[in-house]
Amino acid sequence: MRTLRPPVSIKEKELLAKIGDKLNNLPSGLAPGQQSDHYEPLVDPFNRVVKDLRISITDRCNFRCTYCMPQEGMQWIDRHEILTFEEITRIARICVERWGFDGIRLTGGEPTVRAQLPRLIAKLKEIVSPVTNKEIEISMTTNGATFRLLAHDLRDAGLNRVNISCDSLHRDRFYEMTRRDQFERVMEGIDAAIEAGFAPIKLNVVVMRNVNDDEMVDFATFGREKGIQPRFIEFMPLDAEEGWSLDKVYSADEIVAAISSVYPIEAITKGSEPATVYRYLDGKGSFGVIPSVTKPFCDSCDRVRLTAEGKFRTCLFAIEEFDLRPLLREGGSDQEIADVIEQAVGKKWAGHSIGNVNFIRPKRSMSQIGG
Ligand code: GTP
Ligand code: 5AD
Ligand code: SF4
Repeated sequence: MRTLRPPVSIKEKELLAKIGDKLNNLPSGLAPGQQSDHYEPLVDPFNRVVKDLRISITDRCNFRCTYCMPQEGMQWIDRHEILTFEEITRIARICVERWGFDGIRLTGGEPTVRAQLPRLIAKLKEIVSPVTNKEIEISMTTNGATFRLLAHDLRDAGLNRVNISCDSLHRDRFYEMTRRDQFERVMEGIDAAIEAGFAPIKLNVVVMRNVNDDEMVDFATFGREKGIQPRFIEFMPLDAEEGWSLDKVYSADEIVAAISSVYPIEAITKGSEPATVYRYLDGKGSFGVIPSVTKPFCDSCDRVRLTAEGKFRTCLFAIEEFDLRPLLREGGSDQEIADVIEQAVGKKWAGHSIGNVNFIRPKRSMSQIGG
């Protein structure tokens, strides 16, 4: 690979921009077909390296989970405002090629409601990491309801990993929590994911006090039998109906206590992912807890987000968004897009303060931000 230009600092980039250098007027500053071998880690003001991009590809969903969406009256983003596959891929490419991002996760709403999803996966798989010189990892979070229809096509297109949400193993309770009678379909989706060869498969369980907090051990058993990893998520104040309160949060400590009273476990060292993982001492797998409320993991956060209509966010709870769509649709260069992303990351805050008096709820709920 050829070096086209040495890595430049943010200050130098500003200077270059000022003297009108649009990097040869090519979108990425590279000759067509050429790939950069220069990347610089993107570092936020708290010295955390940002390298995980979560892209919401739609705000629409075929479920109406109580902790996320209202029963009715959701205002959908106009279809023309939603980023195209080409626009999404361009942002992903910038993040990977300039800053060595190592993973892209597709979220929603429900990502599978977007038509031709395998086509997007295939496009994203064309992006090559300058760090490893290999394709990057593409993962997806889905509610699983239609996954059985897509599992093989997504796998063939190159999807590496899938996390499936399921909050109850009882059909009636599942219906109460999701407002859709789709329990069997989700079970089929899980089986289809296993059969298609996805691994590891994680099962996201949002735990709400006095709603599904009696199912921790059942989920652990289910995960052990199926060879998948349940991840119990503390309920966060991102529900559209604003019914969240601290007393509805069933804590990670309580979850771990319930499971360890039946299955002996030990904690596995935590990495940058939000889950703290425990393994069963008998070797039959593991489970995770995502303690966003009681033990925030913001110190090790390495993620940023792109909403379905092209707003760049540096935190799930961010109040400020940076609109990339005008640049995408009005001829902005890659350098200009990268500048906005750097500006956003330069303002990334240390963390949220859920439960404190100074906590400000973001205006948008989970399905509009991207899970
Ligand atoms: P893995 O790479 O498989 O570990 O996936 P993940 O946990 O990053 O992704 P997933 O979409 O499955 O996220 C699981 C849950 O973690 C989400 O539903 C959220 O509840 C929570 N979560 C994800 N990202 C963040 C974040 O940036 N901050 C907080 N507080 N919670 C998050
Ligand atoms: N608190 C915690 N997790 C949530 N999710 C959606 N809303 C909330 C919330 N209020 C999770 C879902 C799914 C992912 C997309 O986001 O369970 O795993
Ligand atoms: Fe849809 Fe996921 Fe929100 Fe449930 S949590 S309503 S499946 S976007």
